[in-house]
Amino acid sequence: MSLFLLLLMLATCDSQYNLLTVPFKGAVMTYYPKNTTTTDFMVNVRYTVYYELCTNLGWQCLSGDCGGENTVVYTVKSSDIEGWCQTEGVSTRQIPSNAPFQLWFNGSDWTSNANGIVRSKAVTLVELRTRSDTGKANTSPQTTILADLRVPSNCERVYSLLAFDPDGDDVKCRPGNASLSECDTCTLPLGLVLDNCTFSLMNSSVLEGSLKYVIQLVMEDFPRQTITLTQSDGSRATLTTSDAISKIPVQFLLQLDPPAPSCTEGLYIPQFLPPTPTHGALFITRYLQIDITVQANLSTISDLVVSGPHNVIVTLSGPGQFTLSWSPIQDEDGESHSICFVAEATLNSVVYQSVLRCVIAIVDLTPAAPSIPVSPLYVVNNTEPATTLPDTVNTSNITDSPSPLVVGTTPSPNPASASTPAPMNIVGLSVKVSSLTPLSDADIFLQVKNILVSFGLPQDVVVRIVNAVQL
Ligand SMILES: *[C@@H]1O[C@H](CO)[C@@H](O)[C@H](O)[C@H]1NC(C)=O
Ligand SMILES: *[C@@H]1O[C@H](CO)[C@@H](O)[C@H](O)[C@H]1NC(C)=O
Ligand SMILES: *[C@@H]1O[C@H](CO)[C@@H](O)[C@H](O)[C@H]1NC(C)=O
Ligand SMILES: *[C@@H]1O[C@H](CO)[C@@H](O)[C@H](O)[C@H]1NC(C)=O
Ligand SMILES: *[C@@H]1O[C@H](CO)[C@@H](O)[C@H](O)[C@H]1NC(C)=O
Ligand SMILES: *[C@@H]1O[C@H](CO)[C@@H](O)[C@H](O)[C@H]1NC(C)=O
Ligand SMILES: *[C@@H]1O[C@H](CO)[C@@H](O)[C@H](O)[C@H]1NC(C)=O
Ligand SMILES: *[C@@H]1O[C@H](CO)[C@@H](O)[C@H](O)[C@H]1NC(C)=O
Ligand SMILES: *[C@@H]1O[C@H](CO)[C@@H](O)[C@H](O)[C@H]1NC(C)=O
Repeated sequence: MSLFLLLLMLATCDSQYNLLTVPFKGAVMTYYPKNTTTTDFMVNVRYTVYYELCTNLGWQCLSGDCGGENTVVYTVKSSDIEGWCQTEGVSTRQIPSNAPFQLWFNGSDWTSNANGIVRSKAVTLVELRTRSDTGKANTSPQTTILADLRVPSNCERVYSLLAFDPDGDDVKCRPGNASLSECDTCTLPLGLVLDNCTFSLMNSSVLEGSLKYVIQLVMEDFPRQTITLTQSDGSRATLTTSDAISKIPVQFLLQLDPPAPSCTEGLYIPQFLPPTPTHGALFITRYLQIDITVQANLSTISDLVVSGPHNVIVTLSGPGQFTLSWSPIQDEDGESHSICFVAEATLNSVVYQSVLRCVIAIVDLTPAAPSIPVSPLYVVNNTEPATTLPDTVNTSNITDSPSPLVVGTTPSPNPASASTPAPMNIVGLSVKVSSLTPLSDADIFLQVKNILVSFGLPQDVVVRIVNAVQL
């Protein structure tokens, strides 16, 4: 911390050392429309950026009317020793119309890398026109990345980026295109196999470690059927299933480390064990708390590196046992946020990193919402007393080392404020409903509930719609 402050002071004193030159290490940006039912159009644009030092370079308008912005920037985590700083920015933009616009980053140089990328560039296409299928503005695909993904150069590894679309669109990934300003030089590392949102280094043994490679991708959402987009001035555009609705940048570093004695997970390379959620697990909750168990028999588990909202808290609850918790704020109600993590283990100061795991948390702050995580991949047996948590968290003073500053995120239930509810099981269901006449939410609730009851569930079963897409 003190080193970081010192360097920033140096930066302001030494004109040779411009903050614009702080080496860049990756970025991702997503957006959520807000308040689009009124005549005022608002959107929350979020970005996670990694630099070698803590700095904040804003995103500029590339095309269209990007409106005015009000940005809050949080320093999520920084490591002076490893030389990185993760910041999260939440930019609330107010725009006069819902016409599409592009934000871009024309920033500093990339950290030194083996595929020769110098300047950093990234573009987000924000589409807010009203969709004919949902009757709402589009939301971008949701994903996040980590600063440095690491793999021993002799090990084959497949990374699957999280790609969740709150509108139910098809999500695809492709390499950035320089002529669209999505990157300055878009070369991908030799030996990298990119298949949609999955990438692997199947031929990495031809590359020498320890080398860092820059990967610059674009994630786009495509409608599942032809849709029209209606602008506030009445003009319309038609999009087919091959037209991207919006796009976001996904840029990060992949580091090839020296060969590991063994590539078997659980020996040197840490392995996730149950109850760690599976990759892509979905939680619908007002308070996220997940347990992560990591094992490495021949090395020592040293860290759980997380990328997600700035106020995610990781606590070590035992050897190789981590608890990750997150209290969303009121403004995040209804949003879905991605959280990705990797475990690290060390042996003789060599770091071994696990595969990437990601989960999605859909924020539901309605009073009846469960205060425990819910996943369609698991049935949660809630026999623990429910914890009473505040609906909002004051995040205005969270800057660094968030753990002691956040209120309402104590991982253990607070017995003083708890009643003892009956055991409760919660499951997520994906349901397709067809009808010749328009259906209200109440009709759907009733029909789904009747079917569940006919399968033997109690009469007081609670049904709620988390997300709906008109097909
Ligand atoms: C929505 O817009 C109205 C009118 O501009 C404003 O008063 C209100 O605060 C906005 N709500 C949110 C959640 O931003
Ligand atoms: C992008 O940044 C480069 C380097 O600072 C600068 O030369 C260029 O003019 C910038 N482009 C725009 C459109 O601002
Ligand atoms: C691309 O990958 C995403 C995320 O894994 C997936 O949802 C989507 O269906 C894939 N699309 C195609 C065309 O394979
Ligand atoms: C990059 O974008 C330009 C302009 O849209 C397009 O003509 C070109 O085919 C794209 N390149 C690739 C490799 O997709
Ligand atoms: C692996 O790399 C070598 C050397 O670059 C190349 O000749 C070979 O075709 C590659 N194999 C695969 C499967 O990509
Ligand atoms: C690690 O040790 C545990 C306990 O001895 C064993 O169950 C597990 O199979 C070992 N893992 C590997 C990858 O050998
Ligand atoms: C839930 O847990 C309680 C207490 O451990 C147990 O009695 C009950 O059978 C469990 N229910 C299910 C469906 O597993
Ligand atoms: C949040 O905290 C800041 C600084 O501690 C304070 O100025 C502000 O009034 C607080 N906001 C709320 C809503 O409590
Ligand atoms: C941050 O805000 C919380 C809630 O307002 C308060 O309890 C805490 O003392 C504040 N911490 C600092 C360092 O200002």
